[in-house]
Amino acid sequence: MKRVITTEAMEEDVENELSLRPKLLKEYIGQEKVKNNLKVFIEAAKSREESLDHVLFYGPPGLGKTTLAGIIANEMGTNVKITSGPAIEKPGEIAAILNNLGEGDVLFVDEIHRLNRQVEEVLYPAMEDFAIDIMIGKGATARSIRLDLPRFTLVGATTRAGLLSAPLRDRFGVMARLEFYEPEELKQIILRSAEVMKVEIDEAGAMELARRSRGTPRLANRLLKRVRDFAEVKYGGKIDGEVAMLALNLLQVDKYGLDQGDRTILETMVEKFDGGPVGLDTLAASIGEDPGTLEDVYEPYLIQNGFIMRTPRGRVATRKAYEHLGELA
Ligand code: ADE
Repeated sequence: MKRVITTEAMEEDVENELSLRPKLLKEYIGQEKVKNNLKVFIEAAKSREESLDHVLFYGPPGLGKTTLAGIIANEMGTNVKITSGPAIEKPGEIAAILNNLGEGDVLFVDEIHRLNRQVEEVLYPAMEDFAIDIMIGKGATARSIRLDLPRFTLVGATTRAGLLSAPLRDRFGVMARLEFYEPEELKQIILRSAEVMKVEIDEAGAMELARRSRGTPRLANRLLKRVRDFAEVKYGGKIDGEVAMLALNLLQVDKYGLDQGDRTILETMVEKFDGGPVGLDTLAASIGEDPGTLEDVYEPYLIQNGFIMRTPRGRVATRKAYEHLGELA
């Protein structure tokens, strides 16, 4: 699989994690429903010698959308080209990207909800008919010519499917929601990553990390690297349950996996807003965070784990949040 990288941030991200990312579906741990469905769609497309239908992945960050795009390309025996919504500014840019794809290639567009309208409009005929219309000339002599494209697969990623415009959303044949991982699944991922990184870790160490990784493989792998640093410098190299616990405490990751950012949200709700209800924008402003980031990055885990409730009048801190903060105080 050849990868073409289009932004610097992504290059760094992809290089860091490239070796930890599974390359095939059978190596991918968790997201069983998504995986089983993809397996069928990939096999069907291959046996018909067609490209895979366009796929939209949605859900909180760090759950494996980019990884799955790479896996789709590998399983289909094609290449993946990686870009993102904000990186494509002009219709000509998306036209050039599309025109450079090979037959059956995967075009991965991260944060696809951030594509601008003109760029999105180039994608409609590209996705539907594998063609783009290019305007040449101006005024009375202007005309459009149709450029045929290879049959490609668009894999889009977004934090919430509802952020996409309806016409774009409707053009995806497959929509798959990624869920937070169970601790047991994260443990398997951590053991696999430790093997790739040649880190010595036991089951108890992996489980402690798994429990505190907020259901998110990206975070699990990041914490594994930081805990390894502590293990090597202070504890003789091996990550067991106790070393993991000590290191995670030093990293200020608590027993639910909440970090300082999460706790600031809960503390602000309790101390400044008497536990709520408080509106998203007000809460975001008082912690100096962008409302979108608060909603898509921090809230899903806090809501799913019962620290915050979303009500028609705003966000409310739950008893669990009070108890947890009380315990910490
Ligand atoms: N590394 C990151 N996410 C993974 C996953 N879901 N399965 C295996 N390894 C991973």
